[in-house]
Amino acid sequence: MALKIRVQSPKVKYTEDYIEAQYEYQTTNVTEDNSVNYTEKRANNIISGTKFEQLKQIRKDIAEFKATKNLDQVIILWTANTERFSEIIPGVNDTAENLLNAIKESHSEISPSTVFAVAAALEGVSKIFKCTYINGSPQNTFVPGAIELAEKHKTFIGGDDFKSGQTKLKSVLVDFLVSAGIKPVSIVSYNHLGNNDGYNLSAPQQFRSKEISKSNVVDDMVQSNKILYQPGEKPDHCVVIKYVPYVGDSKRAMDEYTSEILLGGHNTIVIHNTCEDSLLASPIILDLVLLAEICSRITFKLADTKDEFTGFHSVLSILSYLCKAPLVPRGTPVVNALFRQRAAIENILRACLALPPENNMLLEHKVDFKNQV
Ligand SMILES: NC(=O)c1ccc[n+]([C@@H]2O[C@H](COP(=O)([O-])OP(=O)(O)OC[C@H]3O[C@@H](n4cnc5c(N)ncnc54)[C@H](O)[C@@H]3O)[C@@H](O)[C@H]2O)c1
Repeated sequence: MALKIRVQSPKVKYTEDYIEAQYEYQTTNVTEDNSVNYTEKRANNIISGTKFEQLKQIRKDIAEFKATKNLDQVIILWTANTERFSEIIPGVNDTAENLLNAIKESHSEISPSTVFAVAAALEGVSKIFKCTYINGSPQNTFVPGAIELAEKHKTFIGGDDFKSGQTKLKSVLVDFLVSAGIKPVSIVSYNHLGNNDGYNLSAPQQFRSKEISKSNVVDDMVQSNKILYQPGEKPDHCVVIKYVPYVGDSKRAMDEYTSEILLGGHNTIVIHNTCEDSLLASPIILDLVLLAEICSRITFKLADTKDEFTGFHSVLSILSYLCKAPLVPRGTPVVNALFRQRAAIENILRACLALPPENNMLLEHKVDFKNQV
């Protein structure tokens, strides 16, 4: 069934057969009084040439940055515009080798963010120079070929899409509802924002990337309660994003959660959340980089073996806590529930200090050990 999405925007034209969107990039300047103005023609630092030439230029930039700043490692974080999803095409971006060849051919399905990911992987030389790449936007930068390349070079990758506002709240609220035996059956999320991200997301293909990254966030929480939900059953989940210039960076997120409760009753929770978009994202950017850096210094080996110490898997799933659509190693369960994600970070860092995981049993306060001696 073809998916029909209609997004209202002054720059989008609809006809029966096609949607035409016209965009020119603008730089958003948030002024002290929090109003937003735009600078014409924002893209003023373009890397030109074929995709292969761009790849070479980005690799050169990384190497020069590392050398001039005398760095042990470089962490690159994509916080540029949301791109459309790339199609995964066998022979083009499905393996590391095919991806490198497709870049040489400037194939149209290789997005700029993937070219950066490839440059980071090629510049990272295991144990000698680490080069991590984190994707803060929703698109599928990490096509299978990009993941394979990072694994081959043992560099870290992480993403996708900063978990800053509406989704963060959702990954707490749905976890609470489902674990309390309250069954969410309809989750409807509206957003409107007026910064350049909102402008960019009013293009249907870019909106689709955001819609996908926001839509799977409740899956693991729903599946965790097999009493409430039958296999394959999910709540209706709808995400809408509109561009409203006047509100600028002050994004409005409105959510309605309808749940079934005892005896066929219903419970509806409505939330209105005003988020300063950039101010929510900035600390997440810092935390992603700091956590990725710490991870590069943690190594493991099984006790009492002669095995060599090894580091985390290339796909740094510990960053899930900060991401809307967590990237995890193939075959690994995706955890979206915020407190489970947080507990993973806390307990791994406790293990680094030889402390046991926090289990919250507090048995010492629940059992009178004195009388049992
Ligand atoms: N709370 C948040 O702000 C938040 C939350 C989650 C995800 N994100 C994502 O972060 C990204 C950035 O958001 P923003 O509000 O800063 O957007 P923005 O539009 O204000 O800034 C994006 C910048 O990227 C630049 N750019 C575009 N294409 C580029 C390319 N190919 N190479 C290099 N630079 C390029 C643009 O010139 C612009 O300066 C978006 O993808 C957004 O969805 C933001």
